[in-house]
Amino acid sequence: MSPTSTPDSPLSKATAVPDAAAEPAELAAPYGAGAATAKAAGIPATAARIRTHHLHAAKQAGEKFAMLTAYDQYTAQIFDEAGIEVLLVGDSASNNVLGNETSLPITLDEMIIFCRAVTAGAKRALVVADLPFGSYEASTEQAVASCVRLMKEGLVHAVKMEGGAYYAPTVRALTQAGIPVMAHIGFTPQSEHMLGGYRVQGRGDMAQAMIDDAVALADAGAFCVLMEMVPATTAAAVEAAIDVPTVGIGAGNSTTGQVLVWQDMAGLRTGKMAKFVKQYAQLRTVLADAAKEYGQEVRSGVFPGPEHTF
Ligand code: KIV
Repeated sequence: MSPTSTPDSPLSKATAVPDAAAEPAELAAPYGAGAATAKAAGIPATAARIRTHHLHAAKQAGEKFAMLTAYDQYTAQIFDEAGIEVLLVGDSASNNVLGNETSLPITLDEMIIFCRAVTAGAKRALVVADLPFGSYEASTEQAVASCVRLMKEGLVHAVKMEGGAYYAPTVRALTQAGIPVMAHIGFTPQSEHMLGGYRVQGRGDMAQAMIDDAVALADAGAFCVLMEMVPATTAAAVEAAIDVPTVGIGAGNSTTGQVLVWQDMAGLRTGKMAKFVKQYAQLRTVLADAAKEYGQEVRSGVFPGPEHTF
């Protein structure tokens, strides 16, 4: 059972072990479902996956879901097993894995490598990939082609795209092509140079424009709308204005879901954190202590001991 849901919740039912006599919620894939991979992971080939409709049902039921970024197979596996419903292969891999200053330099080819690693590790979570800067803005055709690569080569289940109502026609084309789209509004990091840096969006008079963006994107078929750095009152108004679920990062507590970058959440990254970050562990200290102890044991000849020796 997911830690964020009750036994009767849509999210729990999505992945519950089926009663042998009951009609399964989702039928076994008629064309085979990667049995070799599923068997290797120790799960049945018919194991359920969180789908976009489960997130929609969660909103209708007044439940919340959790989303974290992941960029590699181990974190994907750990978060998946911890019951995180949605994993985001964010273009924040640019900053958090590749060491760039912003999310702008990461390429579609680089994103696909991270997507492939995450989809190899996640058996239950819905895996969403960011369309990186430069991979969708030129035309609808460019957006469709980039998403096809993320899904065909990266094996993700949905994409996330930054931008407001202007991109509604793109969202419509993608959804008609069978590509589920999570829209990303509010502070959109790919536009940080246009927006003048990291600034809260949708304050005061700008709140209505944000609601209009969300309505246009949801009408165009977005299955979810993510809001970054938005006042809680604006985010609550957006959540109320659309049927599809919203996800927040620095958007208060009214959204259906919440997302954090995992290195922030787990304390792998140190330094000044954004106000919206809560750190649930201090992984940097844990890893640094382990590395120091290993180094000392190697230098002193304690490691490798007889038990590590052939
Ligand atoms: O790339 C990313 O990690 C994101 C989150 C900050 C929402 O877009």
